[in-house]
This record gives sequence, structure tokens and C-alpha cells, in this order.
Amino acid sequence: MCSGLQENYMAAMVLSAVGDAMGFYNGKWEFEFNGEEIHSQLATMGGVDKIDVASWKVSDDTVMHLATAEALVAAGKNPDFARMYSLIAKNYKDCMHDMVGRAPGGTCMHSAMLLNPDTADGWKIPFNNRGGGCGAAMRSMCIGLRFRHPEELENLIAVSIESGRMTHHHPTGYLGALASALFTSYAVNRKPPHTWGKGLMEVLPKAKAYVQKAGSFVKENLQEWNYFENQWNKYLETRGIADGMSLPSFPTDYGVKERDNFYKSVSFSGWGGSSGHDAPMIAYDAFLGSGSWVDLAHRGFFHGGDSDSTATIAACWWGASHGFKGVKASNYKKVEYRERLEKVAEELYRLSLTSAQ
Ligand code: AR6
Ligand code: MG
Repeated sequence: MCSGLQENYMAAMVLSAVGDAMGFYNGKWEFEFNGEEIHSQLATMGGVDKIDVASWKVSDDTVMHLATAEALVAAGKNPDFARMYSLIAKNYKDCMHDMVGRAPGGTCMHSAMLLNPDTADGWKIPFNNRGGGCGAAMRSMCIGLRFRHPEELENLIAVSIESGRMTHHHPTGYLGALASALFTSYAVNRKPPHTWGKGLMEVLPKAKAYVQKAGSFVKENLQEWNYFENQWNKYLETRGIADGMSLPSFPTDYGVKERDNFYKSVSFSGWGGSSGHDAPMIAYDAFLGSGSWVDLAHRGFFHGGDSDSTATIAACWWGASHGFKGVKASNYKKVEYRERLEKVAEELYRLSLTSAQ
């Protein structure tokens, strides 16, 4: 029998994979750019509750999320950080052998080849102006499960940035990893969702100080720093939640088409959710506006943008907040890698029972 919190850890890992499988739909829906078309196909299947994920593969997002999570667990209770980074790098490299039919990202694939986990600092790669994709954000939620205690914030920042820039050495890429991890820690800690955005804005100066201190391509990182922060500030103003107190306000008409347009409007190059800033942002927008798992799926999994990555992140936060409540068993019972996901979730839960500072 699971305790409430332990079940939330399980649900965070398992439902994240479910979101991925649904948003991806074996490649059919990740690359369908018209949200209305996805919703019409979904209706012919009988809706979200009727989906049996047995034949819906998880994509690269889950394979890499497991890679991160299993390395955090292998690093143990009081981790040596250099060793932990080598373990993460090794898993990122190795998991590229499990990408057939999963549509891995270009930056993830290219950067994984640059990693040398067996040499000192072999997990560091050069700065990359095109490293702002969502590949780091989509696999980092588990860092918030591992380092959930407020006194572990420095660890959460360091690990999300360093693991993020093992493939995405660009602030827009690795700050996405920070946002995914931070909001997951907020979710398991029951922090009210409308306050999460302000929380992120307050953490960003600490992240900047970390990057300056860590001393890897500092000038290049600082030059590109502002985009992520500016985009998030603008988003929080749009929803009226920049103060960390007000509840979010959404447009009166905010259906499938309007959401597609909004997601596109916050994107870097027209594909909503494909970058480090907007994948967690769209996941957050969906999470804030949803009163049920089905609502969350409609908003966060099924849209014309990079739907598997926004789904992977949003579904993780749902599980971390609510467990499996309201989710039909057919949605998750037969999800690929369920045993691995449950096992690593349990281990992350145990490691999180006391804080490691
Ligand atoms: N700032 C913001 N966005 C950028 C930047 C930048 N500097 N440079 C590139 N992009 P990709 P990934 C955008 O393909 O991150 C799987 O399919 C660029 O416009 O290298 O390695 C997952 O499911 C592009 O659209 O992927 C995810 O969909 C986007 O970054 C994806 O791969 C993605 O870059 C994640 O992996
Ligand atoms: Mg994917």
C-alpha cells in the first residue's frame, strides 16, 4: 500500500510517460500541426477515457526521463556530484540506442555523441547557439522529485542546469530543465499552482549566480540569458499571475484553435512547445486551466505544437499533485516501461525522505 506522497511519486513518473505516449501517438500526433484535426480523431476514438495505451509507444522524452531518474538513483543518498554527472551523461549516451520509432531530437542526438562519461569533466560540452530546444526540459521533472525539499534548492538548480546543458548548452534550453524540475518539486510540496510562476522568477537570479560561479562559457551564457526570463515575464503578465497572488485569467474563447494560436505565439519559431521556455510554459498554461485529467489532456497533450513534450511535463505535474485520481486505468496500466517507471519512482521517493544538502 502506498502513502499519499509515495503514490504521487509513482503517478508523476507513470503519468508523465502516459502523457508522452498520448501526445506522440506513435509519431502521428506529435507531428500533426493542426490541433482541431487531433481533437476530431480523438473524438472518433471515444475520447481520452477510452484510450488504451498498450500499443502507444513512449517517445524519446520518456526514454530520457528514465535515463535522468535512474542516474539520480544510482548516485545514491549523499551523492558525489561529479560522479552523479558522469552517471547522467552515461545514461544519456546509452539511451540513444533505444530511440527506434521514438523521434529523438536533433540536439539531444548530436550532443550525446559529444559526451565522454569516463573522463573527468567529459560531461561538459561547448556552448551552442541552437541549444534552446525542449530536449532538456522534457526529461528533468524527476530532479524535482529527488531534490524536493526547499533547503535542497541549490542542488535542484545545479543538477537541472548541469544535466540540461549536457545536451543543451544554452540558457533557453537548460532553464527549461530548471522550470520542469522546480514545478515538480512545487507540485509534490503542494504549493498552489498560481504561485509557481513567481517562484520561478525568484529562482532565476540564483540560477544565474550558479552559472557565473560554475565558470563554463559564462560570457556566452550571459549574452543569451534574457530571452527565457523575458518570455516568462510576458506570459505571467498575460495570465495576470506575475504577482504570485492573483488567480490566472484566461480568454473567454479559449478552445482548441485559440490555444493553438496562443501556443504558437509564445514559441521561438512557430512550433509551440518545442523550446526550453515554451514547453514548460504550455504545460503550465494547461495545468492552470484544468480541473481534471481529461481537461489536462485536451489542453496540454492534444494541440498543434510539440505535443509529446508539453504532455510529458504537464502529466508529470498532474501525477505529482493528484496521484492517479480521476485517471482511467486503461490510460496507464499497460504503458510501456511501467515497471521501470514505478521502480525508479519508489527509489526516488525513498531518497527524498530526508534532505541531502
Ligand atoms: N532558442 C529557442 N529555441 C531554439 C533555439 C534557441 N536558441 N535553437 C533551436 N530552438 P531539436 P531537442 C528550437 O530539434 O531539443 C523530440 O521530438 C528549434 O526551433 O534540436 O534535441 C522531443 O519530443 C526546434 O524547433 O530537439 C522534442 O520534440 C526546437 O528548438 C524534441 O525532440 C527543438 O530542437 C526535443 O529535443
Ligand atoms: Mg518525443
